[in-house]
Amino acid sequence: MKKIIIAIDGHSSTGKSTIAKQLAKELEYIYVDTGAMYRAVTYYAMNNGFISEEHFDREGLIAQLNEIQLSFVFNEDKGYGEIYLNGKNIEEAIRTLRVSNFVSAVAAVPEVRKMQVKQQLELGKNKGIVMDGRDIGTVVFPEAELKIFMTASADTRAKRRYDELKAKGEKAQFAEVLKNIQERDYVDSNREDSPLKQAEDAVLIDNSNMGEKEQFAVVKQMALDKIRQV
Ligand code: DC
Repeated sequence: MKKIIIAIDGHSSTGKSTIAKQLAKELEYIYVDTGAMYRAVTYYAMNNGFISEEHFDREGLIAQLNEIQLSFVFNEDKGYGEIYLNGKNIEEAIRTLRVSNFVSAVAAVPEVRKMQVKQQLELGKNKGIVMDGRDIGTVVFPEAELKIFMTASADTRAKRRYDELKAKGEKAQFAEVLKNIQERDYVDSNREDSPLKQAEDAVLIDNSNMGEKEQFAVVKQMALDKIRQV
């Protein structure tokens, strides 16, 4: 059967990665979490003195970009590739609210995007890939056979994210999580380079009132239909 590219874009905390991972597993495709790549660069910037509460040294980070090696290593137990930064597994470390608070600023830097997109194109060159992010259907793979754009109300998303952080034992206030989501929506949608927007040929899924199973069934059917058509 012919392999296709599936692009899943959308707002923060819409459950894109959950659906994308399940779909990749079902189709035996590679799953790539591009948000993790931007988070990894942010994590690097935070740990190497380029980012603090007061300052973001963009030029310093840009000059160091060639020191950043990202890779995905398949974890048998989890069933998907975990992200490594210069040989170190940082899959968990990049999911903190602190990283979330800085990531949109880092993702707005064109040099950072250029480097990430290059690696994303390489990862998808043989198709058979489910990639989630913000600009996959618009910039990275505008020719993707299936494009999905996921959204939900900011309140619904903040509640999900808050529950996730709490479950991991992170101290978080609901208001703070909601503010982070709203700010990221704004910065991601209004940046000059590759802003978050729905591709014209993407299918919109608003999952404010939709369960995971229902969504997965819809998305899986769309993928199987596409695969049959190509
Ligand atoms: O999907 P996520 O919340 O882990 O993504 C983290 C941030 O990275 C998000 O606020 C925007 C940015 N991002 C991006 O600009 N382009 C992508 N393809 C993926 C993520």
